[in-house]
Amino acid sequence: MTGIRLNAPAPGWAIEADVVVVGSGVAGLTAALRCAAAGLSTVVVTKARLDDGSTRWAQGGIAAALGEGDTPEQHLDDTLVAGAGLCDEEAVRTLVTEGPDAVRRLIATGALFDTDPDSGEIELTREGGHHRRRIAHAGGDATGAEISRALVEAVRDAGLRTIENALVLDLLMDADGRTAGITLHVMGEGQHDGVGAVHAPTVVLATGGMGQVFSATTNPAVSTGDGVALALRAGAEVSDLEFVQFHPTVLFLGTDSEGQQPLVSEAVRGEGAHLVDASGTRFMLGQHELAELAPRDIVAKGIMRRMQEQGADHMYLDARHFGAEMWEQRFPTILAACRAHGIDPVTDPVPVAPAAHYASGGVRTDLHGRTTVPGLYACGEVACTGVHGANRLASNSLLEGLVFAERIAEDIAGAPREAGRPVLPETPSPLPLIAPEARAEIQRIMSHGAGVLRSAESLAAASAALETVHLNAVRATREGSGKTAEPGVESWETANLLCVARVLTAAALRREETRGCHWREDRPQRDDASWRHHLVVTLTPERRLVVRQTEGTAFPPTSRSTVPETIPPTVLDAPREP
Ligand code: SIN
Repeated sequence: MTGIRLNAPAPGWAIEADVVVVGSGVAGLTAALRCAAAGLSTVVVTKARLDDGSTRWAQGGIAAALGEGDTPEQHLDDTLVAGAGLCDEEAVRTLVTEGPDAVRRLIATGALFDTDPDSGEIELTREGGHHRRRIAHAGGDATGAEISRALVEAVRDAGLRTIENALVLDLLMDADGRTAGITLHVMGEGQHDGVGAVHAPTVVLATGGMGQVFSATTNPAVSTGDGVALALRAGAEVSDLEFVQFHPTVLFLGTDSEGQQPLVSEAVRGEGAHLVDASGTRFMLGQHELAELAPRDIVAKGIMRRMQEQGADHMYLDARHFGAEMWEQRFPTILAACRAHGIDPVTDPVPVAPAAHYASGGVRTDLHGRTTVPGLYACGEVACTGVHGANRLASNSLLEGLVFAERIAEDIAGAPREAGRPVLPETPSPLPLIAPEARAEIQRIMSHGAGVLRSAESLAAASAALETVHLNAVRATREGSGKTAEPGVESWETANLLCVARVLTAAALRREETRGCHWREDRPQRDDASWRHHLVVTLTPERRLVVRQTEGTAFPPTSRSTVPETIPPTVLDAPREP
């Protein structure tokens, strides 16, 4: 227990449950449904509406060895290659072997995937890094929306208790340092209002990603790293945060464009679209045997290199040869998004550039989704199960959410716990509030210094700039001057963004090599001799971020509470009083 908390009022109301699931994407709702089916009293807490998380935006689909001739072993091979030497093989094996049945259970829950009109079999497409057609999709390019619809409907049918429009604040713990629930803030009118608590011996974090830490991202506005920041404050280990995946083909809307940007799914390339420069040259040919369908990091780097060589701010995705009918039937969502921005993919190449898309790292878990804090679980993008390594294989994330959510529910149901009484830390240590105005500044610092291309110099500058944001906030709070922040959703979110930005930058600075989606201009080679291990970060009660290094790539199969140190820990400058 670190005693570190967000600066928030004490809870004014409380409810009881066996399990509280925070987040309502594929991972959260699957975990909640399975816990409820096992007879556990379950509450789902979500930041916006039940169907507003990242899952809804997933286009391409869900990868699983469902096709004739495909095997979990081949899916494993592709996942390990994409992960660039850092996947935990046992975790990947769990994913690919349990994946196909998990997808079948999702279908049984009500999700409707696209099928071949003649055979009735599920239609499968290809995406980057997959050597065969393995991606099931729904509504053409609206897979996440369909999965979300089916799961939300199932949650409503099952009569689960849900609290919408609620930002999770902190983990509650009992006197033995075990999970005892959460504090949360409900926005607006309803059954509950303001800061409250859900008392529960088990908490499942399924809060999604942290894409909003960058200026341009495919992630929705709710993806502010709340789960990772909460877990750090609770003393949990966080791993692999330096591996941020930048999706290669995001609709380019101008260099100043900020916030959530429309995704142009890899499935468009999977169906035969070409990446070209302004002169129409296919620049990925010859760079990788899979050309435009190389793993995502390689395509993102290919695009960035070409942009640098040509002084351009974007490249193009050319799929005019699909024709209007295919665009309308197979990619209706992307077609509509492009047309809404004045681009018609039927007649024009689509301008694209990489943007932040997926956090391959997160809260460190074992194969049952347990974090290093007893009673705290994590699944989906917020978690680091070891499946993704240094770069997630396309469309593995929905599958990871499904498979590990089911494992979590099984683990919880197998060993139900009594609720401990929440105790407040003896020395509560609230973090300074960060004024919402700092959000755009944090995003600019991160995009500039810790984006697709990084170097020791850019990361050190980003780190120093983030420290200044923090110190200004402390000074403003102490002196009541400048942009003093009031407790509230925006300032809590901004504090979370600053926290994850600092950790991400620290880990990226520390990893002195290029691997997967971590691209260091000053260290362009992958260095297996020195760097084939994970960086694990914890926050100490003294508010120090400690970065440690694991022995090899495997996550220990059972307790993660002790990480062998192969190098002396790096103690970063803690958030301190100026
Ligand atoms: C896409 O459709 O390109 C995104 C799929 C993913 O991120 O896995």
